[in-house]
Amino acid sequence: MTQRRPDLIAVADVDALAQTAAKRISTHLTQLSGRLAVCLTGGSTPQHLYALLTTEPYRTALPWSRIHWFLGDDRFVPHDDPRSNFGIARRLLLDHVPVPSGNMHAIPTDARDVGAAARLYEIELRDFYGAESLAPGRPLFDVVLMGVGDDGHTASLFPGHAELDEKKHLVVGVTEAGLEPFVPRVTLTFPALASTREMLFLVSGRSKRPVLARVFSGADLPAARAYAEGELVWLVDRDAAPEHPDGT
Ligand code: 6PG
Repeated sequence: MTQRRPDLIAVADVDALAQTAAKRISTHLTQLSGRLAVCLTGGSTPQHLYALLTTEPYRTALPWSRIHWFLGDDRFVPHDDPRSNFGIARRLLLDHVPVPSGNMHAIPTDARDVGAAARLYEIELRDFYGAESLAPGRPLFDVVLMGVGDDGHTASLFPGHAELDEKKHLVVGVTEAGLEPFVPRVTLTFPALASTREMLFLVSGRSKRPVLARVFSGADLPAARAYAEGELVWLVDRDAAPEHPDGT
């Protein structure tokens, strides 16, 4: 898989971020035929996007029956727990649009432990993909959404954790989260996330400015290690964008 230089798109605020992401995702998905796969992310930033996708023109334009929805990571809590990434995606997006229930692929957080959940989700991903290993030129996902934490983590891949170097498995359990909420996690690994036509980072807010400056200056942080077979795009609002030379 080749690593491309990321594109940076700067927008005014979190609403513009959601609008730009929605347009981009919609254009992308409506141009593709056959079965589609989108990998959602947790965190607060994508919540504006999820709500926006349930409104026009997206509600009518998106080929809902053809889109399958996955999660890049989740907290090991029941889906009705307010901390569940799948629960949030369901409440804000999936419950409001015509998605067949078989198209929702939640991480099974009712498994015995995070390791068992990771193995089950990996089987689900491989079954969906239809092969044991991911092949270059045939990405698993059409769109992967990502976020970045103040510490540089992305999905549930935290700085200094061994999961960052996982090459064999598509999904792994994370027994100790590096940041709140401190519950065990299940996360896709970099090779699984990278198997996409487009990876879209959504970053908003003043608190993200220091970590973005570090990511863009080449610091070895998890978010900076993310790569994609297709386009890698950072969609960043004005508050989050590292300072301009004029101090704005
Ligand atoms: C999670 C997320 C995580 C998130 C970042 C950014 O489960 O916590 O998947 O990686 O994307 O923490 O979150 P915000 O959008 O809230 O800043």
